[in-house]
Amino acid sequence: MPTALPENFQVLRTHQADGAVQSRLERVRIDDLSPGEVLVRVRYAGVNYKDCLSLYGQARIITEFPRIAGIELVGQVLQSSDPSFTPGQDVLVHGFQTGIAFDGGFAEYARVPAGHVHALPPGLSPHEAAVLGVPAFTVAMALERFLELGVTPQAGPVALSGASGAVGLMALGILPRAGFGVAAMTRRMEQADALRAAGATEVIDAAVLQQPQRPLEKPRFAAAIDNVGGATLSWLLRSLKDGSCLASVGNAGGNEFPGSVLPFIMRRVQMFGIVANAPWDQRRRLWARLASDWKPDMECLMPQVRHIALDELLGHAQQQLQGAVSGRTLVEFPQ
Ligand SMILES: NC(=O)c1ccc[n+]([C@@H]2O[C@H](COP(=O)([O-])OP(=O)(O)OC[C@H]3O[C@@H](n4cnc5c(N)ncnc54)[C@H](OP(=O)(O)O)[C@@H]3O)[C@@H](O)[C@H]2O)c1
Repeated sequence: MPTALPENFQVLRTHQADGAVQSRLERVRIDDLSPGEVLVRVRYAGVNYKDCLSLYGQARIITEFPRIAGIELVGQVLQSSDPSFTPGQDVLVHGFQTGIAFDGGFAEYARVPAGHVHALPPGLSPHEAAVLGVPAFTVAMALERFLELGVTPQAGPVALSGASGAVGLMALGILPRAGFGVAAMTRRMEQADALRAAGATEVIDAAVLQQPQRPLEKPRFAAAIDNVGGATLSWLLRSLKDGSCLASVGNAGGNEFPGSVLPFIMRRVQMFGIVANAPWDQRRRLWARLASDWKPDMECLMPQVRHIALDELLGHAQQQLQGAVSGRTLVEFPQ
């Protein structure tokens, strides 16, 4: 029996007029969506810092307006003109400019090019895949690179900045699965118990940045994941051990950072960037690991996972941009 298609449905769409960006709830038709072979009924859309910037036009992320933001989604195939996908199949979409050059997850339905659609890997339920999403994939990319560079758990803990955010939460869940201790750095020490419960082996008060800074700090960490940039990134670089490395993931505290060459030429530190948009072989490999040996203890993560409705998203995004929310947030669509 052919699946009934909705005449129209709810989306949060972002517009630009007279240089000002505005996002609003609207009802649209399927033909209003950017083109694609696979029509997906969205169950969950992860809310990323980047999405919050898009919704409020705080950075030039969206390339063409109007656009439905939301860089990741999990849902069920409703229709597909590409034989690789069948109705009823659970799928995951992230990267490939989703929510940027293509309409994204903040909508009850999404139309997606078949080449952007990932069948859910065995070992993950749709809800688990949505909880993990882009933040977990980002951490998996960093972890894979640490291992390629020869970092071992015996060399010391991995430092993690912006620890109470979504990438932080996933790092706390994933890194211990590969044997690493995690030194979680946060501006919100009231989150310390929650960070330990989520997997941190130690918690560092970001107030350490207010103390007098030295050209090189005591070497403490075998690797670092930086979500913040600025003085935080600089402190992490100066606190790395000889032969260690840092993954620059985010800029929640700014794009610039002060620094010197000393960590590189005195301690052979390597720094690399992460963009969570990998070629297909790496996507499949990392999602398979996130569904098996790197899969976090989902029960430990759940106290830090929040579900909101689409009409709560704009208010939530404002809070997230102010650094006032913690953990992982999913927009959940009633099915
Ligand atoms: N490269 C990639 O592919 C990729 C993928 C995903 C995310 N990202 C980026 O990584 C960063 C973290 O993402 P997320 O999803 O974890 O974001 P998030 O949930 O909003 O968390 C960001 C965390 O950074 C800290 N923070 C926020 N504002 C800050 C400020 N002004 N100064 C210092 N610290 C601040 C806070 O942690 P504390 O309160 O604990 O200090 C906050 O919880 C963002 O910049 C995001 O755009 C990049």
